[in-house]
Amino acid sequence: MITILGSINLDLIARVERLPRPGETVPGEAFSTAPGGKGANQALAARRAGAPVRMVGAVGQDAFAGQALALLEKAGVELAAVAKTGTATGTAMILVGGDGENMIAIVPGANAEVLPEHVERAAFGAREVVLLQHEVPLQTVKAALGAARAAGAVSILNTAPFHAAAADFVAVADYVIANETEFDLYAEALALAGADREARIRAFARQTGRTMIVTLGKDGAVAATPEDFLRVPAHPVTPVDTVGAGDTFCGYFAAALVEGVGLKEALGRAAVAGALACLKPGAQPAIPLRAEIDAAMGSP
Ligand code: RIB
Repeated sequence: MITILGSINLDLIARVERLPRPGETVPGEAFSTAPGGKGANQALAARRAGAPVRMVGAVGQDAFAGQALALLEKAGVELAAVAKTGTATGTAMILVGGDGENMIAIVPGANAEVLPEHVERAAFGAREVVLLQHEVPLQTVKAALGAARAAGAVSILNTAPFHAAAADFVAVADYVIANETEFDLYAEALALAGADREARIRAFARQTGRTMIVTLGKDGAVAATPEDFLRVPAHPVTPVDTVGAGDTFCGYFAAALVEGVGLKEALGRAAVAGALACLKPGAQPAIPLRAEIDAAMGSP
């Protein structure tokens, strides 16, 4: 079982020819809504990868709540631990440019009410993989990492979005997944020594005893354990929309761990899944199915 504790949003998406500069107005080409939120996206990715998944989080009692949960429900993600609060469901305002790049502003709403007491109620078990991100209060993320460790569960922390304060507990996670920008910021905050990024990734793993995974966009991903350094190439695609690609990577990686595959194979699957998630608009609607990953990797 994978437990994902994290955010649930409704994404409000405008496609624009190019992203605006500060103070500039650009015309949009299309508007749509889609279920999103880093936590929920990762939950759906893990489920589409074939894992049993439960979601811990919160939504409001408004019209957006049902839309935000629709694809999780349809996919069979367990939602009993999703609280219904008096605060509005979280939203994300997303602009997607013609090159597939994006700008996102989030309004946490009910996600801000995911508290350490929800962690207690979730009662992690020793056989679980617990997957976390930074779109719910950091005190809750910290409590969840501690609870996972105490229960003997495996924890994965996706450090998105970056928060300097998370540097204090990032090394409690068994696996840390950061994109290159986030990693560089943590490297600075943690004063990791090394002449270049690779040296600093190795330094993190050596000093903490944890596995650090850094996604590099079109350059694939790298991972350091205290003993090893691995590289996986990117799966080549022409991106239409990169929103949710990182979440898809995380969900597929967690599902591979639950399946018991080795680190290199897990990273390879996650990298292909993340790339395929860039081929369609929207975060959750674009998350590929396991069969698509197997086909792209040449598995029967
Ligand atoms: O990682 C992409 C997600 O970030 C979007 O779905 C949006 O909701 C924000 O949380």
